[in-house]
Amino acid sequence: RPPVLVVTCQLPALAQQRLEALTDVEVRQHGSLQSMPRAALLGALADADGLICVLSDRIDAEAVQAFGPRLRVVSTVSVGYDHVDVAAVQRRGVRIGNTPGVLTDATADTTVLLALMAARRAKQALALAEGGGGGFVLAGELGSQFTGKALGIIGLGRIGCATAARLLPFGIARVVYAGSRAHAERATPLGAEYVTLPELLRVADIVCICCPLTEQTAGLIGRGALASMKPSAILVNTARGAIVCHDALLEALDAGRIAHAALDVTDPEPLPVEHPLLRHPRCTVLPHIGSATEETRSAMANLAIDNALAGIQGRPMVAEVGEPGPKASAD
Ligand code: GLV
Ligand code: GLV
Repeated sequence: RPPVLVVTCQLPALAQQRLEALTDVEVRQHGSLQSMPRAALLGALADADGLICVLSDRIDAEAVQAFGPRLRVVSTVSVGYDHVDVAAVQRRGVRIGNTPGVLTDATADTTVLLALMAARRAKQALALAEGGGGGFVLAGELGSQFTGKALGIIGLGRIGCATAARLLPFGIARVVYAGSRAHAERATPLGAEYVTLPELLRVADIVCICCPLTEQTAGLIGRGALASMKPSAILVNTARGAIVCHDALLEALDAGRIAHAALDVTDPEPLPVEHPLLRHPRCTVLPHIGSATEETRSAMANLAIDNALAGIQGRPMVAEVGEPGPKASAD
């Protein structure tokens, strides 16, 4: 039989057309915007040669147990792969592909969007206008501007660099970054200084989280980190929700320890509708749309198809997790 490629949800239009035109593989797809129910995924894995999945599909120990003998590749349509138990998958001899690079611009754009929304209190202003209030008020709805401010980037990978490059022309006076190591070749063109995380939190007016979720970054921004930020600072997270402790964030916002948080990612995702951060006047939440443009999502899905076919056919992948080189890093 031809190799079976399981696809857990519908792809953006152009990539979907390409998928449907594939002739070397038998595509078994969950034809809905939402991903395949868990039981269907576990069942489908038994007979699959390749899997194209998204970040809401948990490829954990249980899923690895459900892998059939033919499976050669897990191709996630995302740059992040914290939803994949990499060690367990690779122990089964299954390769993992992800989609770095193609989503850098869109995600950096979303980071800037959230930074501006937070700094200019867009959530409160929209609520005011939608409630029929507002109009020009000389001393009302005053936010802050970026001119002369310090930008802190946690994780100076592709997205972190693109975010700093976008924000610098707003008049940012100083860029600092923190991470597991210094990246002089990336930092120099941006004039960015490598500092410790406590130092970054102490000096930055705008803190952008651009690092992958790992054991080292889970809960990185908790009570202590938030307490060390400036009361006027804004926190932007377009990486993964679990990097920020949400209880500590709520407490910090309520106590006025930071000015605003703007989150494209939460933990869990989505947040339950009654979650206090959703209605908090100084917390802006978007539903994980960092990479959600026609162009970018099509490119991500195309890259995931390329990776899946390469994996099934035993060829080198465009971006393979765990291969030497920085290609597949999750930022
Ligand atoms: C999205 O969050 C991604 O990892 O691509
Ligand atoms: C990747 O971009 C890294 O931080 O190594």
